[in-house]
Parts: sequence; structure tokens; C-alpha cells
Amino acid sequence: MRNRVAVLHGVNLDQLGRRDPRHYPSLTLTDLELRVGRFARELGLEATFSQTNHEGEFCEWLHEASERADGLLLNPGAWTHYSYAIRDALEIAGLPAVEVHLSAVDQREEWRRLSVIRDLCVGSVQGRGIDGYRDGLELLRSTLQGGAA
Ligand code: DQA
Repeated sequence: MRNRVAVLHGVNLDQLGRRDPRHYPSLTLTDLELRVGRFARELGLEATFSQTNHEGEFCEWLHEASERADGLLLNPGAWTHYSYAIRDALEIAGLPAVEVHLSAVDQREEWRRLSVIRDLCVGSVQGRGIDGYRDGLELLRSTLQGGAA
């Protein structure tokens, strides 16, 4: 059964709880991971969690991802908008991926509207806070199980 999902958080997501409350929930990354872990179990998925502020490390996780995961739930933070290195690494990973953003990136500053990874992903969720992670996991589950999204 393909049910292993690696949830990868990028730069500044470890600072949840201190970020602009107009865009981000007040919970910490640890709280978020607990909630998302619960969502995953309810959906019959096994989730693992990682966060880094180092772009190269994020790329290396993507290089190795297929050894331990069947799908990816990615919130690369600001790297989403400009990191071609992460885009290339995601292509190398060759796993179904969903992009998730807590805030409504398309309704914020102009520079946040571009995602350099979006077209490599099977789906993209934004502006739904923590529930967006559940949406992303559901999308990944239907992709992994070969059903409609
Ligand atoms: C974010 C949106 C990005 O634009 C921002 O740089 C982040 C978080 C989100 O989850 O809404 O760090 O990915």
C-alpha cells in the first residue's frame, strides 16, 4: 500500500506562533505537526515531518525522498516563489506532490503569486490554514490510490 507521506516545511515555518496573525494561525509548528499527523492517521496515511531553514538541505531531502515516502506534502515557505534549485530537486524526486500554504498567497503581495513548483504538483492548496493540510493529504491519498482527486 502506498501510504507514506513526507511533510516538508521550509524556511521560517519553524517560526509559526510568531508570524503575522493576519496571515498565519497562532499555533506552533509542533502543534501543527500533531494536528496534521492526526489528519493523516484518520486518512490511513503515515506522515513524517521535517523542517529546515537551509535550502540545500531541503533539496537533499527531495533527492532521497523516494527511499522513504510515496508522496510529498510541501510548504517550502518563501522558496516557493523563487527557488529553481528546489524545483529541480522536486523533479528529481519523481513523487506525487501537493503544495500547501497556510495563507492565501494569491491575495497577498504580487511576488507571492508566482510558485515555481506549482506545475510539478498534482495540486495546490492555499489560504485554508491548517485545514489546507488535510485537503492536501486527501488529494495525495486519492492520487496514491489511483482514484480521482
Ligand atoms: C507560506 C507563504 C509564503 O509566501 C511565505 O513566504 C511563507 C509561508 C504559507 O504557508 O502561507 O513563509 O508558504
